[in-house]
Amino acid sequence: MAKTIIFLGPPGAGKGTQAQNLTEKGFIQISTGDILREAVRNETELGKKAKEYMDAGKLVPDELIVSIIKEKLKELENKDIILDGFPRTIPQAEALDKMLPELGRKVDVVILFEIEDDEVVNRLSGRRIDPKTGKVYHVVYNPPPENVDVIQRDDDKEEVIRKRLEVYHQQTAPLVEYYKEKNKLFPINASESPDIIYKTILSVIE
Ligand code: AP5
Repeated sequence: MAKTIIFLGPPGAGKGTQAQNLTEKGFIQISTGDILREAVRNETELGKKAKEYMDAGKLVPDELIVSIIKEKLKELENKDIILDGFPRTIPQAEALDKMLPELGRKVDVVILFEIEDDEVVNRLSGRRIDPKTGKVYHVVYNPPPENVDVIQRDDDKEEVIRKRLEVYHQQTAPLVEYYKEKNKLFPINASESPDIIYKTILSVIE
């Protein structure tokens, strides 16, 4: 059975960084944030609906996200995947539990990235992205090469970061208990270095 791994944790915990690393091992990263940002850039119907929620640091409505994931999963039959940023609410997790068996999948493990809020603010305010490749950098911890023109995400301003954290604690954190009860949760210390975290994740997955 193809692997289905969930990355759960606050904004800026390093989920995207580690999901990108795992693509080297043949995993496909499904980042709902990246899908939504692309839709906003292309001004699609989805992008128009999602933009105001994202700019305000709020979650996009569950129905929109669940239908995106359903489509993606159908396309990726038999592939090992990482769900990066989904599910983010109990109704999203319940919808996932319903759709996975229909697609011959189950959740293998939920990796919980644990980190303090202040460290999140520090990481996200220094985050930069290469818009051509989507590669994620940090001005201090992982500076971009000089020949790469990077950009800053619109929602990486301090007031929006604080709102995203509040939304995480209110709407997403209840998933910790949800997956703990199902014996799927594997917490990791997300304030370690990216290399140590990568090795830990590999040992869990393999
Ligand atoms: P999304 O894009 O998913 O954002 P997020 O969850 O807030 O996560 P981030 O991408 O900010 O952080 P990350 O954990 O991936 O960290 P990264 O690896 O980049 O969502 C954006 C918006 O879309 C949401 O607000 C919402 O509106 C909407 N949305 C998305 N999914 C949704 C859903 N399911 N339902 C409803 N709405 C949804 O790392 C951060 C920085 O730290 C980088 O600069 C990196 O270089 C650095 N770094 C990484 N690891 C380390 C380390 N170990 N040490 C030091 N620095 C590190």
